[in-house]
Amino acid sequence: MSVQHFLTLSDLSGDTLKSLIADAIRLKKALKNNTSNAAARPMQGKVLGMIFEKASTRTRVSFEAGMAQLGGDAIFLSPNDTQLGRGEPIEDTARVLSRMVDLIMVRTFAHERIETFAQHSSVPVINALTEDYHPCQLLADIQTYVEHRGDIAGKTVAWVGDGNNMCQSYIKAAAQFDFKLRIACPEGYQPNTELLSSHADRIVICNQAQQAVDGAHLVVTDTWASMGQEEEKKNRQLAFAGFQVNHELMALADQEALFMHCLPAYRGLEVSAELLEDPRYSVVWDEAENRLHAQKALMLYLLNTQA
Ligand code: CP
Ligand code: NVA
Repeated sequence: MSVQHFLTLSDLSGDTLKSLIADAIRLKKALKNNTSNAAARPMQGKVLGMIFEKASTRTRVSFEAGMAQLGGDAIFLSPNDTQLGRGEPIEDTARVLSRMVDLIMVRTFAHERIETFAQHSSVPVINALTEDYHPCQLLADIQTYVEHRGDIAGKTVAWVGDGNNMCQSYIKAAAQFDFKLRIACPEGYQPNTELLSSHADRIVICNQAQQAVDGAHLVVTDTWASMGQEEEKKNRQLAFAGFQVNHELMALADQEALFMHCLPAYRGLEVSAELLEDPRYSVVWDEAENRLHAQKALMLYLLNTQA
């Protein structure tokens, strides 16, 4: 029997993704109203393995806290203290770990690495960020939009900045959640060409941030230098001048437009400090919190468990 993984948003149908968002909203309400059925502990006896080959705050804490709230356990594994860090092949690690735990999340560099891991895992694998995609963040982002503004279908989203893993996840989200996406990146920092051409029906590439944001319902950005690109920081700051999201830019968006950023944010670079802290537009703290609720819904789905 094939195992259901979550390596990109394309692994699940649009309907399944929408029902995960609804589940996440329901789980969040139950937690806030203290009506979660604590006695049920739907994940009791289940263990999540968490492989982090890069740093994390939100992803680690949301998965660990989520598993604890559902009655399960989580094991944090870093390359510093596993054999993976000493060169044990990813295939062998996948085969061994998946005999011991029920679910595995992986944060790593090349996307091919998580694909190889998943091919050799007998339990579901969740992408917790690769160089190409960050699908868990998109679950939280869509949940946040739905909570604040309702259905995202038919809306226009503007991506301003680097054509990175978050931007590429937005491309897949546009297809799965049925919205239009305008992308403004500096020359040389566009997302993957094949991905763009396979989604050409709903994507517009803009030369300037202003064009992308004009009338948009949601404006999103991310760091100009992702993890692993630290040495390019200076060059990137030069290349991305003119791509900062700030109040001046947001003034061009729809009156009800929201601002999102997966965090961590670099104030004064990709986003102004004032905009990040302005609750009229910025929903970044809800967005971060929703990682918890959305991933609980995802883990329950992948383990075919109700809560
Ligand atoms: N947004 C996000 O994935 O944050 P962390 O790197 O802190 O996990
Ligand atoms: N694009 C960023 C996202 C961090 C959550 C990175 O890959 O570092």
